[in-house]
Amino acid sequence: MDRAELVKEAWKAREFAYAPYSHYKVGAALLTKDGKVYRGCNIENSSYTPTNCAERTAIFKAVSEGEREFAAIAIVGCMDNQKPDPNVYASPCGVCRQVMREFVDPGTFEITVASDENHFKTYTLEQMLPESFGPEDLLG
Ligand code: THU
Repeated sequence: MDRAELVKEAWKAREFAYAPYSHYKVGAALLTKDGKVYRGCNIENSSYTPTNCAERTAIFKAVSEGEREFAAIAIVGCMDNQKPDPNVYASPCGVCRQVMREFVDPGTFEITVASDENHFKTYTLEQMLPESFGPEDLLG
């Protein structure tokens, strides 16, 4: 699946975003190395802290179904009452970057931030989370 297709999947994921407090809706599409896509949306909570980001929803869905090998994630986000600005991309928060770090190779895993299938930018996790702490620091 190419990056433009993965961005479209992220937009589909965003349709189910539950964001009554921030009104900022996010969708993520996580691609496994064998080509499966897991979608995730942000899920807010009236107590705020339990809110889950779209990226983590997608990652936890996949891991909870036995997936451990990931190639890429695409992320889209914007206010629910606005048209997305083609030049503004939703970037993953620090917590989500660290959750990705647990399961992927930072040097090769690709994070695509996008506004639509024609406007996106791709980084490795290493670029977005340099000098990171990860499983090998504890497990050797
Ligand atoms: N959000 C995400 O879903 N992903 C991110 O990486 C950044 C923020 C969500 C959380 C919250 O529901 C809303 O965006 C505003 O912070």
